Amino acid sequence: MKVRRLGQTFFAEVIDVDLAHLDDRAFAEIKKAHLEHGVVVFRDQELTPEQHIAFSARFGPLQVHPMMQFNLEGAPQILMVSSDRHPDGRPKGIADAGRYWHTDMSYMPEPALGSLLYARAIPDEGGDTMFCDMTAACRDLPREKREQLLNARAVHHFASRWARESKGGMRPQQTKEEQDRNPPVEHPMIRTHPDTGEPAIYAGGFVVSIKNAPEELLSWVNEWVAQPKYVYRHKWRLHDLVFWDNRRVMHHATPYPETQRRHMHRTTVKGNAPYLDRQYLARELSSTP
Ligand code: OGA
Ligand code: MN
Repeated sequence: MKVRRLGQTFFAEVIDVDLAHLDDRAFAEIKKAHLEHGVVVFRDQELTPEQHIAFSARFGPLQVHPMMQFNLEGAPQILMVSSDRHPDGRPKGIADAGRYWHTDMSYMPEPALGSLLYARAIPDEGGDTMFCDMTAACRDLPREKREQLLNARAVHHFASRWARESKGGMRPQQTKEEQDRNPPVEHPMIRTHPDTGEPAIYAGGFVVSIKNAPEELLSWVNEWVAQPKYVYRHKWRLHDLVFWDNRRVMHHATPYPETQRRHMHRTTVKGNAPYLDRQYLARELSSTP
C-alpha cells in the first residue's frame, strides 16, 4: 500500500490496496492515514455493496440516511448519489447532493465521523467534488473572528436546506414526517477533533442561524474556508472510493451535464457529539488582549 499527499495541507491518494480483503495491519495504516490527511482516495476498488458496508463498519456504527427512498434496496446503509431513475421516472438517488459547502449529517446530534463515497459511474466532464481543510482554516483565523467563533453556536436543520434545494425542481419535497424526523440541533462553531485533539471550524450548509455572534459570521466563514489555499478539487476516476473526515473538512459537489450518468454509493459512519475542549477555549480566550 502506498500513500501520497495530493493537496497542500490535506488529501492523499492510496494505491495498491484492496479494501475488500484487508488485514488488521493494513486497516491500522489506513486509519492513521485518514486522520493524518483528512481525506483519502483509494484507487481502483472493486466492491460489492456488502464489501463497501463491511469496510465502512470497521470505523464505527453506520448511519442510515433519513431520506429512505434514496437508500439501496436491501442495504439501507448505502445512500445513492445518482442520476439514475426508476422505470416510472422517480429518481433513484439524490442527483444534486451537496452542491454547497457542508459536512455530512451536521443536522444530527451525533453527526457523521466520515463518509465513504464510491464511484460506480462517472460523467466525462464535471461532477468533481471539492474539499476544504477546516483545521488549517481555523489555525489561520484572524483574532477577532476566532473569538467570535469560539463563543458562537450554530443551529443546523436538515428540512430547511432540503426545502431550499427542492425549489429548483430536481428533488421531491419532504413529507411532514420526514421534516419532523430531524429537529434543529445546536453545535459549537469550533470543535475539537476527538482523535487528534486539533480544533477545526464547524459550520456548513445545514446551518440556519447562529447564536452569540453576528449573523454575518456565517457568510464570512464560507468565504474564508473557500480560499484556494484550503481547497482541493477531486477529479473522479471510475472506481475511486473517497473517504473524508467530516470533523475536519467540508465538501462541495459540482454540476455535470444532465445527459450524463453519475452513479455513486455512499456509506456514513456515525461520530461523536461535537464539543470544544474547555482548556483550549480558556487558553485561546485568555491570549486575546
Ligand atoms: C455526499 C456528497 C458530493 C458529490 O455524498 O455526501 O455531498 O460530489 N456528495 O457527489
Ligand atoms: Mn455530502
